[in-house]
Amino acid sequence: MSLVALEGIDKSGKATQAKMLKEWLSTNGFPVEIIAFPDYSTPIGREIKAFLTEKISFNVEVRQLLYAANRWENKEKIEGMLKEGKIVIADRYIPSGLAYGYANGLPLDWMLCLERGLPEPDIVIVIDISPQTSIKRLSCGKDRYEKDVTFLSKVRSSYLYLAKKFNWFIVEGERSALEIFEDIKNILFTNLKLLTD
Ligand code: TMP
Repeated sequence: MSLVALEGIDKSGKATQAKMLKEWLSTNGFPVEIIAFPDYSTPIGREIKAFLTEKISFNVEVRQLLYAANRWENKEKIEGMLKEGKIVIADRYIPSGLAYGYANGLPLDWMLCLERGLPEPDIVIVIDISPQTSIKRLSCGKDRYEKDVTFLSKVRSSYLYLAKKFNWFIVEGERSALEIFEDIKNILFTNLKLLTD
């Protein structure tokens, strides 16, 4: 049915909101699935994990190709869920590729080519927090991006720039989970047609 992407820099609350949204939609009679990217369970996902934990090194182009390939590994799975009439909530999806890649200086048109042909998200919601909040919320197990406040600032700016360009929704993420969820519900409610088409 519909693909909703929840986006934002690390620790913006995407996983929490995905869970709340799943519960709310299920209670309202919609079949829902959550899918999270990167999907570390696949062969390419394991390469991504190795890069994030600094066991292996790739240049930015290769990293971008791996993130995109990791979505392609899940193409049939996502298409299958949509065909079954489910609402698919993606905890990161193509917009993460674009925002992080853009922050790494990669050309947008090249990145868009890599994603062309994947199921497109119907609604993209960016949960916006400051890099300082992101760092504060991180306790341990930081990956190589999460350690870098300057990079997180660039990613945040990329999200805000791309949101304007591609009509993504932005919600203020420095509030309680419930307050954020109210905004997300409102966005979905006003775009319910997208969900039920
Ligand atoms: P995670 O912490 O949400 O598991 O994501 C791991 C890192 O990968 C995070 O810093 C964001 C980054 N990332 C990209 O750079 N491009 C992508 O396409 C995706 C899905 C994630």
